[in-house]
Amino acid sequence: MQSYHMTPRQFREYGKELIDWIADYYENIEQYPVLSQVKPGEIFNSIPEAAPEKGEDFQSIMQDVDNLIMPGITHWQSPSFFAYFPANTSFPAILGDLLSSGLGVQGMIWATSPAATELETRVMDWLVQAMGLPGHFHSSSTGGGVIQDTASTAALTAVVAARERITNFASNARGIEDKLVAYVSTQTHSSLEKAIKIAGIGLENLRLIEVDGDLAMQPGKLREQIEIDRKAGFAPFFVCATIGTTSSNAIDPVRAIGEICKKENLWLHVDGAMSGSALICPEFRKVADGLELADSFIFNPHKWMFTNFDCDCFWVADKKHLIRSFSILPEYLKNKATESGAVIDYRDWHIQLGRRFRALKLWFVIRHYGTEGLRHHIRYHVELAQKFADWIRNSRQFELVVEPPFNLVCFRLKGTDEQNMELMNRINQSGKIYFTHTKLSGQIVLRMSIAQTHTTSEHVDNAWSILQEEAEKLMNV
Ligand SMILES: Cc1ncc(COP(=O)(O)O)c(C=O)c1O
Repeated sequence: MQSYHMTPRQFREYGKELIDWIADYYENIEQYPVLSQVKPGEIFNSIPEAAPEKGEDFQSIMQDVDNLIMPGITHWQSPSFFAYFPANTSFPAILGDLLSSGLGVQGMIWATSPAATELETRVMDWLVQAMGLPGHFHSSSTGGGVIQDTASTAALTAVVAARERITNFASNARGIEDKLVAYVSTQTHSSLEKAIKIAGIGLENLRLIEVDGDLAMQPGKLREQIEIDRKAGFAPFFVCATIGTTSSNAIDPVRAIGEICKKENLWLHVDGAMSGSALICPEFRKVADGLELADSFIFNPHKWMFTNFDCDCFWVADKKHLIRSFSILPEYLKNKATESGAVIDYRDWHIQLGRRFRALKLWFVIRHYGTEGLRHHIRYHVELAQKFADWIRNSRQFELVVEPPFNLVCFRLKGTDEQNMELMNRINQSGKIYFTHTKLSGQIVLRMSIAQTHTTSEHVDNAWSILQEEAEKLMNV
């Protein structure tokens, strides 16, 4: 029979080559400009307009990876990548992901691969313990954890579960009849806005609560707004507090917000997308004070826990609301294990049906590093960021904009917004380092996010030298 498939022998050979290619990439990553230098359309136009009629050999595909694809890569894994937020990966994570691809299981329900479900439950329970999370997030309690693709999907999941809880599951049946209203701060990540739109709540029913001088949500303002809304006939149902906002790493007061939520019967979702990883270190856990009042909590190992994208850990305090919101059982998925009630079917814990075996890569990471190794590297990133912040504090060219709690430093060149943007663009175009900006209180602010797996003090020293030299040049012309 004619076959176009790659044989196991070829796979073995090419697979080894590819692993070598990846190892070489990491060894030589500093030779690339961190920010891709291509122009819009350059990669698209370099790729043939039609798919090949005849299959091509592996070598020619890899040649095109080198020649056509690599110029269009921004090197997120470069130790001089300080932009946005980290998406740090590690070799154990890459191997775990490869194994997941190799096994190719689709773990939508327990029966379709019991290991995919049970390992996930176990790894999520490990993290509850290792990060000092509230006991009710543990699978042996009322709650439990599930791995989602992203924090955005998890936020949508939380909003939908909250919507169903407040309407006693009527909105799933009849659509939304109440005037539901949700609360975030002016600094909350845009994924919450997206979730509110998709969940049918309506953007006009999302209240942006003012923040204080540290850019953290003001609980008093939240309380006031809830009161105003109730008087106007709205039905408040959902609040998102953030541990480490995207722009400035601000920490919302979870306990004070949580107490309001309990009193008012609102679902509290806590977003710790990046900074949640810091909870693995006991000394950083004070930022999560009050987390036991949350109905759901997320953090992304795909940001700052050496696990390649995508991997979002999502816990709920009470799984019955989640499962009742998302559960669906068509005839073709009925099976004895599900009927017995003795297993978890994760398809009922999120939006999609099909699911990858993501727990494998997280398991590989945790087993490789141990919690000790994870704590070591996270502490090191925080130490590097604090050192950088000290340089800024003592600088005559730059100023610190907010006190950095962890690994993100927000600072400004003492000059105009235009000069700050010019400085950043010039440096980024050089390809030596890559960092990005935000706007805080109406002003352009530069951000150094220090958390790439292989970043060392040398890389941070180098970034600081570049910043000072370029600032000198810019301000003296
Ligand atoms: C605080 C916060 N929440 C949510 C997100 C969205 O993350 P994801 O890409 O996993 O949806 C981000 C990403 O930057 C973030 O910083």
